[in-house]
Amino acid sequence: MLTLEAHTELAQEALGHKLVQAIDMGAVVYLHGALGTGKTTLVRGILRALGHVGNVKSPTYTLLELYQLESKTVVHLDLYRLKEPEEYIYLGLEDLTSPDTLWLLEWPEHGANFVPPADMGVNITYQGTGRRLVITALSTIGTAILNNLQLNVGYSS
Ligand SMILES: Nc1ncnc2c1ncn2[C@@H]1O[C@H](COP(=O)(O)OP(=O)(O)O)[C@@H](O)[C@H]1O
Ligand SMILES: [Mg+2]
Repeated sequence: MLTLEAHTELAQEALGHKLVQAIDMGAVVYLHGALGTGKTTLVRGILRALGHVGNVKSPTYTLLELYQLESKTVVHLDLYRLKEPEEYIYLGLEDLTSPDTLWLLEWPEHGANFVPPADMGVNITYQGTGRRLVITALSTIGTAILNNLQLNVGYSS
């Protein structure tokens, strides 16, 4: 487990940069946190670090945004508006399962039992005007990423 803090939106994006630097291949990352805690902001930092230029739309209404970037395919989901977890199936994402796809899921619990299993969890909470991020490894892939990340940020807890 690793606890990080970001006091501004820019710092949140910078943590996204650090996080994705620690990911060699693909991974499934669950992003937990109340509305407005900065889940999409973290994703924007990740996408920009991977070379995406331009907007990062929140998939609040579309549920899904897909990015074909040079090194990876990124699937950004916001499942807040799923009424039943079963509706996840209609997104038709089974074909995207590949070892170099990075999955970033906001509100994964709304697709419980249908979404791919997590390699890592990021739990974001408000901390004053900033945010606290608690990062947990949930598989061997996740453990490797967390180890890389701890080296990159220079400390662990
Ligand atoms: N670490 C942070 N510190 C302060 N404000 C932040 C931070 N991260 C994000 N924000 C701000 O919080 C708001 C909501 O961010 P967003 O990424 O849309 O949240 P979510 O996707 O979790 O609903 C935005 O205005 C964003 O600028
Ligand atoms: Mg969001």
